[in-house]
Amino acid sequence: MTRVLVVVASQTGRTRRMAEALAEGARAARADVVLRDAGDVGDDDLLSADAVVVGSGVHMGGIEASMRAFLARTSPLWLQGRLAGKLGAAFVSAGAGGRGGAELALVSLHATLAEHGMLLVSMPSRLEGFAEAGCHWGPMAWTHPRGGTPGPTAEHLAAARAHGRHVAECTARWLRGADT
Ligand SMILES: Cc1cc2nc3c(=O)[nH]c(=O)nc-3n(C[C@H](O)[C@H](O)[C@H](O)COP(=O)(O)O)c2cc1C
Repeated sequence: MTRVLVVVASQTGRTRRMAEALAEGARAARADVVLRDAGDVGDDDLLSADAVVVGSGVHMGGIEASMRAFLARTSPLWLQGRLAGKLGAAFVSAGAGGRGGAELALVSLHATLAEHGMLLVSMPSRLEGFAEAGCHWGPMAWTHPRGGTPGPTAEHLAAARAHGRHVAECTARWLRGADT
């Protein structure tokens, strides 16, 4: 079975709701999903995963401190190349209409996954929810700067679900190829 690890840094719960939707989508593609807070991830979680999906609230134009700390803790695995060849993907939750660094945060998450030699899964525009919450780097929830419904909205969650399914399907396809 495809194993997907979802790691989330969420101070007020919005990114966590995106993580849960993404996990639901991956499970719909028959993946075995483990969801962990960034502070609780052990090396075994990372090593046993076929795909690692990281998500963070956007803070001060970038990723949240607990996600940065988690990524820094993976450096011993980087030294040994232990995560190379796994699939990786990202998602975020932001304020400021998504224009306060959400895309930069996504790129920053992808950069660390790439540093590990992981295969990056982008978000195709055909996926459900892409028009409302899609970015080619991954799904992003956001809140309108002048009020309105705080994210994640139903559309944002649909985008996260669709991306989770997509990541799980890509991982399964990759593993099947590796077997043959
Ligand atoms: C300390 C702090 C800094 C923030 N900085 C930004 C920012 O620079 N850009 C942005 O778009 N949103 C920013 N936000 C809003 C959060 O990204 C947004 O509320 C997000 O959904 C929070 O996710 P969480 O509920 O998972 O913690 C900030 C929130 C806090 C508390």
